[in-house]
Amino acid sequence: MSLRGFIFCCLFAISIAQNETNNKLFPEDFLFGAATSAYQVEGAWNEDGKGENIWDRYTHTHPEIVVNNDNGDVACDSYHKYKEDVAMLKELGVDFYRFSLSWSRILPTGFVNKINLPGVTYYKNLIKELKDNGIEPLTTIFHWDLPQPLQDLGGWKSEFVVEAYVEYARLCFELFGDDVKYWLTFNEPKQICPIVSGILSPGIGEYICGHHILKAHARAWHIYDQEFRATQNGKVSITIDSNWQEPASDSDEDIAAAERSLQFTYGWYANAIYNSDYPEIMKTRIAERSLAEGFNRSRLPSFTDEEISYISGTFDFMGTNMYTSYLVEAMDEVPIGDPNYNYDLGVKTYQPDDWEACTAPWLRLTPWGIRKFLNWLKETYNNPAIIITENGVVDDGSTLEDDQRVRYYRDYLSNVRSAIEDGVNVIGYTAWSLMDNFEWQYGYTQKYGLFHVDFDDINRTRTPKTSVAYYKKVVETHCLVDTCEE
Ligand code: NOJ
Repeated sequence: MSLRGFIFCCLFAISIAQNETNNKLFPEDFLFGAATSAYQVEGAWNEDGKGENIWDRYTHTHPEIVVNNDNGDVACDSYHKYKEDVAMLKELGVDFYRFSLSWSRILPTGFVNKINLPGVTYYKNLIKELKDNGIEPLTTIFHWDLPQPLQDLGGWKSEFVVEAYVEYARLCFELFGDDVKYWLTFNEPKQICPIVSGILSPGIGEYICGHHILKAHARAWHIYDQEFRATQNGKVSITIDSNWQEPASDSDEDIAAAERSLQFTYGWYANAIYNSDYPEIMKTRIAERSLAEGFNRSRLPSFTDEEISYISGTFDFMGTNMYTSYLVEAMDEVPIGDPNYNYDLGVKTYQPDDWEACTAPWLRLTPWGIRKFLNWLKETYNNPAIIITENGVVDDGSTLEDDQRVRYYRDYLSNVRSAIEDGVNVIGYTAWSLMDNFEWQYGYTQKYGLFHVDFDDINRTRTPKTSVAYYKKVVETHCLVDTCEE
């Protein structure tokens, strides 16, 4: 066989292998979980002393921004139905539940001067119910729902809010840390500081906002490390998200563009924590464009040497959300004009039509992407222990037979298992979501749940979809197919 023929056969074999489900068992201590977040499921937006947060304000004053004018006022009503939620988790057999604390439910003004005891009791009860059922809480301290009084003070653009967050985080460790052993300081900081639209957490200057979030994360990690670790013995990290960025061709320019894209999305937040400082490519490009735009300094704030070493290493594991992939092409420099994150990044991304679609316009099924992404994380950040803190797919709610979700979980998990064989230290996986919920600007039209929720029913009745049986089997057997190799 010619060399060319041999290479073709090898590539063909690899692509066949990629389509086959990995039949190796997941490690015995591998953790499986499911996730939600406070605003998306709790409801009870103004009950028992809860304060107003930015999503309450936003959906009430600009209902047109969310599809069907929906909001999270009632959502899945988990504030009243948390026992049903835990029963569903029990049914799945998962090791942990990832949920978030509503800052305004605990601190209605955002500040620790006023603690809302019914809010604290709610989370104590939820955590107790979880522990009584053998389910570990994995708790996100902040999942986008900033107390409105803090937004009124400038939100994440203000360093003042960093101080308020730090006090809130300390209180969370104090209140719940005896039972919570896995913490996430922030969920998806890139979405908190909007880069695409003003919809998520409206109106924030993204680089300044990001700078403050990194500082707030590091402060919270150090507080835990110094004040709580010895007695509580838990682990603290942050969840950062990115889609996999695949070069659109094998040209040097596209390969560099894809790497730049990963650095601008994931590296923006990860590099300071898992390596040190912002990625070089971000520092260089933003500084160059800023100067050309007439600024006297880079629009990307800089850390002092002291801050760089303070932030570096503030993790006990790596939390990562991943859903899909994009092809990335280099593009000509956008002429200097409007300062803008996308121009700083300077790439073109797209998803080809022949990648399988689902109900969410941005999410095509690319299971191979998660294996590449995990390998990239391993290489770029020195092989940390990774918990995939979100992964999932959308349906439109028309049927309980969510066969696409079954395939999605099977194929993505298959690639996660293969990444483990590649040497990536993945220790846990989280399905987003436990149940259908309020999907931000898409309201209730995009359904990520393993369990269906009837939002027309005052009882918010939960019903298992087909994927529940599949995920339950995977959690129980640690095997994606009928029988696995040892
Ligand atoms: C990211 C967010 O963390 C979560 O709130 C959202 O619902 C899912 N991904 C799906 O978009």
